Amino acid sequence: MRTNLTGVLKGMSRRGWFRAAGLMTTACLSRISGRAHTASHHAGRVRTVDDLDTPAMIIDLDILEKNIREMQEVCRKEDIRLQVHIKTHKIPEIAHMQLRQGAVGICCQKLGEAEVMVAGGIRENILVPYNIVGEQKLIRLARLAKRAGMTVAVDSEVTAKGISEQLQRDGGSVRVLVELDTGGKRTGVQSPQAALELAQKVSRMPQLELRGVMTYPSRLEAKAFMEETIELFRKAGLPTEEISGGGTGREAISKQIGCNVTRSGSYVFEGLQRINTTTNPPNPMTCATRMIVTVVSTPTPERIIIDGGQKTFERNPPNPYGYIVEHPEARIYGMSVEHGHVDVSASSHKFRVGERLSVVPQHQGVTINNHDEVYAVRKGLVEAVWPVAARGRVR
Ligand SMILES: Cc1ncc(COP(=O)(O)O)c(C=O)c1O
Repeated sequence: MRTNLTGVLKGMSRRGWFRAAGLMTTACLSRISGRAHTASHHAGRVRTVDDLDTPAMIIDLDILEKNIREMQEVCRKEDIRLQVHIKTHKIPEIAHMQLRQGAVGICCQKLGEAEVMVAGGIRENILVPYNIVGEQKLIRLARLAKRAGMTVAVDSEVTAKGISEQLQRDGGSVRVLVELDTGGKRTGVQSPQAALELAQKVSRMPQLELRGVMTYPSRLEAKAFMEETIELFRKAGLPTEEISGGGTGREAISKQIGCNVTRSGSYVFEGLQRINTTTNPPNPMTCATRMIVTVVSTPTPERIIIDGGQKTFERNPPNPYGYIVEHPEARIYGMSVEHGHVDVSASSHKFRVGERLSVVPQHQGVTINNHDEVYAVRKGLVEAVWPVAARGRVR
C-alpha cells in the first residue's frame, strides 16, 4: 500500500525524477547529507518513502523549511533575537538550517548535545541553560569552552564556583547567565534580589563573563520580576546584554517582559500539539515529522496492530499516541513495547496486513530520541539520511 506522500511523486519535477532515477543507496544518500554514515538499517535501495523499512521517522523538508522560515519571521517582526533550542531535533544539519535562516545561536539542554553540535561545525553562541554540576561534566565543559563560544546558566554560587575553578585549572572562559525562576517552578533563583546577589558573585569569579539573565518559560506574569531584576542589574553596573526568555509561541511574550533573546525549539516539528493548536480541525501539514508504520496484524474488525510501539513512539498517556494522517478516525489507544494497538471501529476502511500508515507522533523531542536516523523527504523522495547525532546524550 502506497503512502500519501508517494502520490505526490506523480507531480514531481523533472529534476526530482532525474534524482530518483539514479540507483540511490542509503550510503550515497548519506553522502548527500554531508556526513559519513554507515549505520543505516536498510539493505537495499532507498529512493522514496515507500522503499523505507518501517517503522521509519521521516521529516518533510518543505514543512520543516516553512516552520523555520516562519519562526524567524515572527522574531524579526517582534524585533527579538532567536536562539534555537536543538533538543527537539538533535540533528546538526537542522541546526545549520536554522542558523542560515537567521538564528543568532543555539541552545542545548545537555553538554552532550553541545558536544555533538560543536563536532557538527557550530562554534558560536552555544547556550547550555542547565546547571553544570560534577567533575566529569566540568572537565567536558572546559574542553568545549576551548573549541566554541559557550554560555551556561547558573542558579547557585556552588554551580558558578565549580565552573570557575575548573576553568582556572584548565584554561578558557565561559559566559554566564543567572537563571530566574519567574513562575516555571523548575530551576532559577527565587527573587530579583537573589539574582542580583548571585550576579555580583559571578562577576567577581575568574574565567566567568556575566552576560545577563535567563528564564523559562516566558510568561506575562514574569514582567515585574524581570523588570525589577534588570533595574537592579543596571543600578549595580552589571551587564544586561542577554535577557533571555523562551518557549515556542512565547516569542512576543519574551519581548513584552523585557527579553532581547528568545529560545524556541519545538516549533520545527511540534508533533500533535502543533497540529492540534495551530489549526482547527488539525492540519497535519503543519508538522514536519511522520512515523511510517506497517499494519502487521488485523486480529479483529475493530483492532489492527502496527509495528511501532513504545520504543518507536513514546508513552505519554493520557495523551493520544499519535495522529494517523490517512485515517484520523482510527485511534491509537495503547502501546506495548513493540506493537501499536489501533481502534479502527470508527473507520469504514478495510485495513490490510502490509498496509503502510503515516503517524504524526505526540512529542517529537522524545520520539526522535528513540531513532538512530531519520529520513529527510521532499515530495515523497528521500533526499538525505540524517543520523540523530545527539540522541541519548543525556549527560
Ligand atoms: C530552558 C529552555 N529554553 C527553551 C526551551 C524551548 O521551548 P520550546 O520547545 O517550547 O520551544 C526549553 C524547552 O524545554 C527549555 O527547557
